[in-house]
Amino acid sequence: MCGIVGYIGPKQAQDFLLEGLATLEYRGYDSTGMVVIGEQGPRLVRSVGRVESVKRDLEGDPLVGSYGIGHTRWATHGAPLERNAHPHPDTNREFFVVHNGIIENYQVIKADLQKNGVQFISDTDTEVIPHLIAAEYRRLGNVTEAFLSAVQQLHGAFSIVMVSTFAPDTLFAARLSSPLVIGIGDGESFIASDPTPIMEHTKKVIFLNDFEAAVITPSEHVIINLKDSSTIERLPQVLDYDPDVAVLGDYPHFMLKEIEEAPQTVRSALLGRLRTEQNLVKLGGLDLVEEQLRYIDRIVIVSCGTSYYASMVGEYLIEEIAGIPVEVQLASEFKYRNEPLSRSTAIIAVSQSGETADTIAALNKVAGYGVLRLGVVNAVGSTIARMTDAGVYCHAGAEQSVASTKAFVAQVSVLALIALNLAKNASPLYEELIKELDNLPAKIEKILAQKQEIEALAKKYAHHRDFLFIGRRYLYPVALEGALKLKELSYIHAEGYAGGEMKHGPLAMIDENFPTLALALDGELFEKTISNIQEIKARGGPVLAICNTTEQLEGIADDVLVIPRTIEQLQPILAAIPLQLFSYYAAIELGRNVDRPRNLAKSVTVE
Ligand code: M6R
Repeated sequence: MCGIVGYIGPKQAQDFLLEGLATLEYRGYDSTGMVVIGEQGPRLVRSVGRVESVKRDLEGDPLVGSYGIGHTRWATHGAPLERNAHPHPDTNREFFVVHNGIIENYQVIKADLQKNGVQFISDTDTEVIPHLIAAEYRRLGNVTEAFLSAVQQLHGAFSIVMVSTFAPDTLFAARLSSPLVIGIGDGESFIASDPTPIMEHTKKVIFLNDFEAAVITPSEHVIINLKDSSTIERLPQVLDYDPDVAVLGDYPHFMLKEIEEAPQTVRSALLGRLRTEQNLVKLGGLDLVEEQLRYIDRIVIVSCGTSYYASMVGEYLIEEIAGIPVEVQLASEFKYRNEPLSRSTAIIAVSQSGETADTIAALNKVAGYGVLRLGVVNAVGSTIARMTDAGVYCHAGAEQSVASTKAFVAQVSVLALIALNLAKNASPLYEELIKELDNLPAKIEKILAQKQEIEALAKKYAHHRDFLFIGRRYLYPVALEGALKLKELSYIHAEGYAGGEMKHGPLAMIDENFPTLALALDGELFEKTISNIQEIKARGGPVLAICNTTEQLEGIADDVLVIPRTIEQLQPILAAIPLQLFSYYAAIELGRNVDRPRNLAKSVTVE
């Protein structure tokens, strides 16, 4: 989703802005823009499309100046057009603003400004901000006061960075529910919507919290409470972060790279936590709340998209292994439900990015309830990681492709560890799970070695308009995830169903043009899944089955893919891999933009 960068210091601002925006590209965007203020005044460039094309346009005619801001926009209000791209200036081009998020009361502010003769050029909510700041500047005569006063009038969820011709060598920033981090260099300062672009330059950072603003110069960082305009003392923290992980290397796409990282992803998630020899799971991140966890009698997991499907696997795992009732809720729905929550309930937020606005909103909703808030997060230092009482990091490393793959594998691994940790050895499955978790990386490697076979299957099925995924029990969330992967990457209409639900409606869709991918792995419900496949075949539907031996599906499925056996509770981790590869190759076959599917963003920072 939208990305923000800003620089102030002795160097040419353009270099960091271009490099930082390129680093944020993975978040997904449709237009790019920058403004740099130099001795000749401000120069604004905006364009629909990639950072690379802006970079090319500036070759031979660079932006000159030592402070500036840049933005990648993912359209919310107004189509991806140059006039809607950020930064947005006021009428006199004295104030320039980049903005992530949504200004909910922009129409009221716009109407007021229009009454006073302000002409609007864009269709965005953002454009009200520079005009409002300019109006406040005329009233107050001070840039900092004008900025604070304008921001205090805005409602919504946003982060904003501003530069002004009236305040040389200063960046102004404000945050309400959308991340911003200040990087403190040697005589230079950076700002960005996530730490990635900054890490190459400095690891010393200050995160802004909600309702905070900052006035930033090369050597000073004043944090201001937006509620009462008081100054806040905050020492910088040093981030332990390795930006090199996100390098494509010899891979054609980040998605393939990230799928192939799955064995290492599982190893990293288990490292130091799964103590096979001692038959023990140790989660340092939960130590602090160990006592509170003893009294938890209900867990609500909140998440979105792929993280939601991983959470569903977590629900089955925690209930079966630890015997605690769990409910998984879409974060976007949870926020607006009026359900009673007792203090013995724990909320777990599961998120790869740790910046998903819906998940943050769900956590914010329960902030005053006295419930324990835990995080299963991949991005170190992200908003969710910081706002939860305790948590377990996924340690999957940076995930760049918009389609989440290795994060799913890591999330399920971590949720299995949490289930074991909560079970405290009381489950009959305890020992077997611990041993089998350890065996997973080698089994995933075997599946990855089948990638040509999966590619051939994807090519065969990619030209269908519709697709169904079915699975039962632990494989039901995987069917949902398989369908999500296929639709987001290939744009094929795909649905995931619990096998047992077929006869309650979806069977009506089945004909010879509507194939089904059936997850038919060994387990308690294997025979029932076979019956579901038979019902589909009886209606002429082609079936591709993922199974543990060919014989079981002979004469039943049209195509089979055999993957290694594991215990049912861990099948989601293995079964997810061929589905990810299947979607990847289907997307390639159809000529899609694999790492950046249309209309989507990596980090969904608006509600
Ligand atoms: O960063 P999060 O895990 O909170 O993101 C949640 C979803 O936006 C994300 O999983 C999305 O569904 C992916 N594009 C799926 O591949």
